[in-house]
Amino acid sequence: MRSLKRSEPRSPPEQYGLGFHRSERAVSGFETAFFSGARQHAFFFESGRGESMSANLEAFLAALAAVQDEGCGAFRDAQQASDVEAARIRFLGAKSGAFKEIEKQFAEIEKSEKRIAGMKLNEVKTALKAALDTALAAVQGEQGGARSGTFDMTVPGVELSMGHVHPITQTIDHLKEIMGRMGFEAAEGPEVEDPWHNFVALNIPEDHPARDPLDNFYLSTARVIGGEGPLSEVHRTEPMNYLLRSQTSTVQIRVMESRRPPIRVISLGRVYRPDAPDATHYPMFHQMEGLMVDAGVTMANLKTVLRVFANNYLGSDVQIRFRPSFFPFTEPSVEVDFWWNGGWIEFGGAGMVDPAVLTAVGYDPQEVTGFAFGLGVERLCMRRHGITDIRDLYSGDLRFLNQF
Ligand code: DAH
Repeated sequence: MRSLKRSEPRSPPEQYGLGFHRSERAVSGFETAFFSGARQHAFFFESGRGESMSANLEAFLAALAAVQDEGCGAFRDAQQASDVEAARIRFLGAKSGAFKEIEKQFAEIEKSEKRIAGMKLNEVKTALKAALDTALAAVQGEQGGARSGTFDMTVPGVELSMGHVHPITQTIDHLKEIMGRMGFEAAEGPEVEDPWHNFVALNIPEDHPARDPLDNFYLSTARVIGGEGPLSEVHRTEPMNYLLRSQTSTVQIRVMESRRPPIRVISLGRVYRPDAPDATHYPMFHQMEGLMVDAGVTMANLKTVLRVFANNYLGSDVQIRFRPSFFPFTEPSVEVDFWWNGGWIEFGGAGMVDPAVLTAVGYDPQEVTGFAFGLGVERLCMRRHGITDIRDLYSGDLRFLNQF
């Protein structure tokens, strides 16, 4: 038995290879392997039988090689999770696995040979573990992972990403809450409307420019008028009597048609106009419509309600201003401006419900009066949060939306 010393001659790497004769070259091969790294060891130890090795080390290395061969084979052949687990216990079991048994023999290896033995020990362990991992991955892939019988409870769970309420919906909820405290109840109406509710009952006659097809999304239906088979059909689109509502004032009519005064409602929802999108326009936006009808309702009530609303939503220092205007469904009509952050900003329109509208829904204008208003929800939301481009609200960009 001889020890390996660095001073002993080494073979150049090119001489170390498959072609050497064990008897002649074993010693130098051994040394080359020792000084040039673990990969070369692997080759040498599996092939070499040098007289330089003690019988003890030789047996140890042979046992390791055998357990590596057998173990890797077993992992490779495993068909299902239970096979992998059986092989794991047999070869890598912590108490009496085949590898463990050999490892116990390490204590018997002579001091001078411990380093070689230790390296081989590590190498075989790494190889067996790699084979185990590969086998696990293979059976998990086949059996859908979680059911394969291996569950690592130390792996952190998959974090659920919680969605949250869109800023416009948050605004709508907030507006409902403020108006609710003043006794206004939320009402809803359809987004696909007929001309009666969108125009006629609101005192907007047939020739009014607001009814221009270029200013509204009128709907049409497609009808098959000729041809045979799915690819040869000829369609004709026919105008329908419906449109996407251009204002939430439609809901005023629907509410008054179905109830008697006193009425105190708001309606929050989408409206549609064919505007090209830019920083302040979008073909779909939201309005908050307000309607109060009772005996003796006046402009003073309207102004108070809007001021209290603005003070709650935008701040207690916000002031309100009415500018004379015109809407077909109110008389008198006003534009509503709020003094906010050093300037007057227009938020919508309002006025006293036109007697023609009250008559259209069957109310007696001699008995009741009412006020109505319509405010832009996006504008309110954008002012409050400092949003400068309406398109950001509808881009679906989570980097923007997550801020609210
Ligand atoms: N419907 C109007 C628009 O979309 C806004 C409006 C103005 C609503 C005056 C009202 C009102 O209820 O009284 O421009």
